[in-house]
Amino acid sequence: MRIDIVTLFPEVALAPLSDSIIQRARAAGIVEVRAHQLRDWSQDKHRRVDDSPCGGGPGMVLQPEPLFAAVAALRGPDTRVLLMTPQGRPFKQALARELAAEAHLLILCGHYEGVDQRVIEALVDLELSIGDYVLTNGAVAAAVVCDAIIRLLPGALGDARSSEDESFSDPQLLEAPSYTRPIEYRGMRVPEVLVSGHHGNIVEWKHQQALARTRANRPDLLVPHMTNQRPARGGGCELL
Ligand code: ADE
Repeated sequence: MRIDIVTLFPEVALAPLSDSIIQRARAAGIVEVRAHQLRDWSQDKHRRVDDSPCGGGPGMVLQPEPLFAAVAALRGPDTRVLLMTPQGRPFKQALARELAAEAHLLILCGHYEGVDQRVIEALVDLELSIGDYVLTNGAVAAAVVCDAIIRLLPGALGDARSSEDESFSDPQLLEAPSYTRPIEYRGMRVPEVLVSGHHGNIVEWKHQQALARTRANRPDLLVPHMTNQRPARGGGCELL
């Protein structure tokens, strides 16, 4: 897979992708990631890429010319063009899996009050938001999206089961709690079931814990799909 990121802050986008698992995936050739300076496509002698919003209002809007030029330079026949923006579609694990199957992602990062709407209409295949809050720029959001996608690529994680058995593998359940040695620490013991060696009981315990955690922290994941069916992995859910 190849990923190109176009941003005013290439170092910000690349920093989180330059260590640990993601850096190893890059070094192994599983993914090629490049970050480009949007100003390199500015046609202005001061390298400006923004202007004030038509109709008035605060802030600045990214102009169309540099973004059209960047996309023309970087887009190929198999490219999916994404725009990071708080107005985008929510980025979830299912979308990370879908995007991990693409050959080439071109990620445009918004800044200031946003980007000229003609860019979105003419060039962008998918507008993405990483959450209901506003960041100072889309480079941080692009790094989040790249991390979530790259770790899903075959060979990126040492143990492929890590990405299969985790929160949002089933989009309606968070992951169960984890413990490791020592079995007793400061008077707190690892639950007996986890050291019992009884696989069936462990599976059932994990399921109940996952449900309890989801109810406590993310009841929204359960409610819209509520049925009185007990879940099979990957779908449905239990009555609250
Ligand atoms: N740019 C600023 N805030 C953002 C968000 N929440 N998601 C994606 N891009 C953004």
